[in-house]
Amino acid sequence: MLFPKWMNMLPTVGALGAFGGLLAVTWGTWYYATPDFFEVGYMPTQPGGGFNHQLHAGELGIDCRYCHHDIERSPEANIPPVSTCIGCHQENKLAGWEGHNVTFIREAYAADESVEWRRVHKLPDYVRNFPHHVHIKSGVSCYSCHGQIMGMPVVYQAEGLGMGWCLDCHRNYEENLVPPDMVTDLDAVEQEMAARARGESSMDLEALAASIRRDPPQTCGACHH
Ligand code: HEC
Ligand code: HEC
Ligand code: HEC
Ligand code: HEC
Ligand code: HEC
Repeated sequence: MLFPKWMNMLPTVGALGAFGGLLAVTWGTWYYATPDFFEVGYMPTQPGGGFNHQLHAGELGIDCRYCHHDIERSPEANIPPVSTCIGCHQENKLAGWEGHNVTFIREAYAADESVEWRRVHKLPDYVRNFPHHVHIKSGVSCYSCHGQIMGMPVVYQAEGLGMGWCLDCHRNYEENLVPPDMVTDLDAVEQEMAARARGESSMDLEALAASIRRDPPQTCGACHH
């Protein structure tokens, strides 16, 4: 054997050194300049009339993927452009639009501009790898990470998004899995999680766990390369 096995770790150790230096810089600017991004409950004021998930995803029942359509293919969830809204909000045909500010959608569309939505969830830049699509396809619901979005008139950060939070689920992932076709049905997932907490779930968690590709990673390089 030419190289002893421990040498495989060298690139990781080197990368961690570089990561450490970078961290000192990132940390200073990030933690102190934009601490709001990391607080549970963070709820920035959105432009125009805002966007109401409780109404659109909850009451009207529009699937998350109608708007966040890249989520099954891409590491990053997309925010929809105004062209996704305009089909329904082109004219004042909808009952109940009076008194609501929807003109900002038409104005943005007419001017070929985008609405400057303010970001709610953001990981620090030194977390290089957060793949939405891998989680969604494995049966981790939006509910587990974003809370009950279908009940939120205004989106806020429901979970801490810290490293301990990621690792907690990576160690105990079985109890957080649902069948992949259920991930965007947040009401059903909420009921299922409540049934699990009462010990009354009828789902086969072992079978769900056996269907994912591999165990979620706990090595540093998986999230910070
Ligand atoms: C009709 C379009 C539409 C649908 C359907 C929709 N969303 Fe959204 N979503 C948006 C828009 C627009 C924003 C940006 C404005 C905001 O943050 O409120 C957004 C923002 C978000 C954010 C916050 C993004 C950030 O900045 O961190 C999350 C999380 C989210 N949506 C999850 C969901 C989930 C989960 C569902 C399904 C239950 C869903 N959305 C359904 C349009 C939609
Ligand atoms: C499938 C149709 C549909 C789509 C797509 C849609 N909406 Fe709506 N929207 C509605 C309906 C229906 C209402 C409710 C009118 C009412 O109050 O009865 C509404 C109401 C609203 C209101 C006013 C109500 C409030 O809560 O203030 C805003 C603002 C709004 N939508 C923004 C958006 C934005 C932004 C998008 C694109 C990201 C979007 N909508 C996409 C159907 C849609
Ligand atoms: C395993 C946890 C997890 C799951 C599951 C998850 N998200 Fe996220 N989401 C995050 C994290 C963490 C971020 C911040 C990512 C970043 O800053 O790179 C985020 C960011 C977002 C954003 C903001 C993207 C942007 O560029 O502004 C949207 C929109 C979003 N998620 C929608 C969803 C929807 C819809 C689902 C379900 C179909 C979902 N997420 C499932 C953890 C998750
Ligand atoms: C609620 C559970 C849950 C949370 C929270 C969670 N994950 Fe995961 N994660 C999983 C599961 C399950 C897998 C395994 C997916 C598979 O391989 O099928 C996974 C896999 C991954 C992978 C490997 C992707 C690949 O290509 O194999 C990375 C990287 C990752 N997660 C990063 C994160 C980060 C960063 C966070 C926190 C911001 C996070 N995860 C939070 C459940 C979770
Ligand atoms: C599953 C993904 C994941 C893995 C694996 C992981 N980290 Fe992290 N790490 C994160 C996230 C997400 C943050 C951002 C925490 C925050 O926003 O407060 C972070 C933050 C950090 C920080 C900044 C200080 C802090 O705690 O906020 C350091 C240092 C760090 N990680 C080192 C490591 C080391 C060393 C390992 C391997 C033993 C490791 N990480 C493994 C996701 C991960």
